[in-house]
Amino acid sequence: SSRRPLIAGNWKMNGLRADADLLVSGLAARYKALSAPAFDMLLCPPATLVATVAAQAAGSGLKVGGQDCHRNEKGAHTGDISAWMLRDIGAGYVIVGHSERRQDHAETNAVVKDKAQAAQAAGLVAVICIGETEAERDRGETLRVVADQVRGSMPAGSTAENTVLAYEPVWAIGTGRTPTPDDVAEVHAEIRKVAAEVLGSAAQQLKILYGGSVKPSNAMEFLGLTDVDGALVGGASLKVDDFWAIAEAV
Ligand code: G3H
Repeated sequence: SSRRPLIAGNWKMNGLRADADLLVSGLAARYKALSAPAFDMLLCPPATLVATVAAQAAGSGLKVGGQDCHRNEKGAHTGDISAWMLRDIGAGYVIVGHSERRQDHAETNAVVKDKAQAAQAAGLVAVICIGETEAERDRGETLRVVADQVRGSMPAGSTAENTVLAYEPVWAIGTGRTPTPDDVAEVHAEIRKVAAEVLGSAAQQLKILYGGSVKPSNAMEFLGLTDVDGALVGGASLKVDDFWAIAEAV
């Protein structure tokens, strides 16, 4: 397809400056050494490291993003960070609606949609996360839940350029368990179909990532699927060799 794969690393609440130095220098050297990289690589460190990582990644081609943003541009929201602030320190992307935020901070689809809209307005690409829980899957509700999340979390102003969707089954995150490639293929096809309600034919250009226990040994089985345009990687993105090996599976 014409969709350029995106390999995204979500460091979650991990990383001190020394860790970032090692990770970014290792990845930047490898990425720069490619004469024509076949994929984009995105690093999403904790907010404390976004500026550092952006400075260190400058000139390498690596992309940098945040893990969350507030829905407003600025104001009395102690502890929060806006999309404009992330943009100001060098981010080009921001993850919104990760299941850990939906769970830990009770973020609803409506909140996630507002955050995505703020990200797009600030000039960032919103990486909108969706995915069913294990109970929902067991009840056979996966496709309905995911479709509802796409409809509820994707702002009207979304385009294939300012939006990426990431399908992350909640039960596959950090567990070592994954859906079958057939399951992932089915869900991604459904996501693209529902995204077309907002994007129309441009849904064909939309990147849809798979996330949840992606590692070097299973990356190829997911990245080879028609509607899978990259990966959102947690744990394995904290090791240069593992993250790089995943990227090489595109
Ligand atoms: O955002 C990343 C996902 O939550 C996946 O995390 O690769 O550690 O399972 P994981």
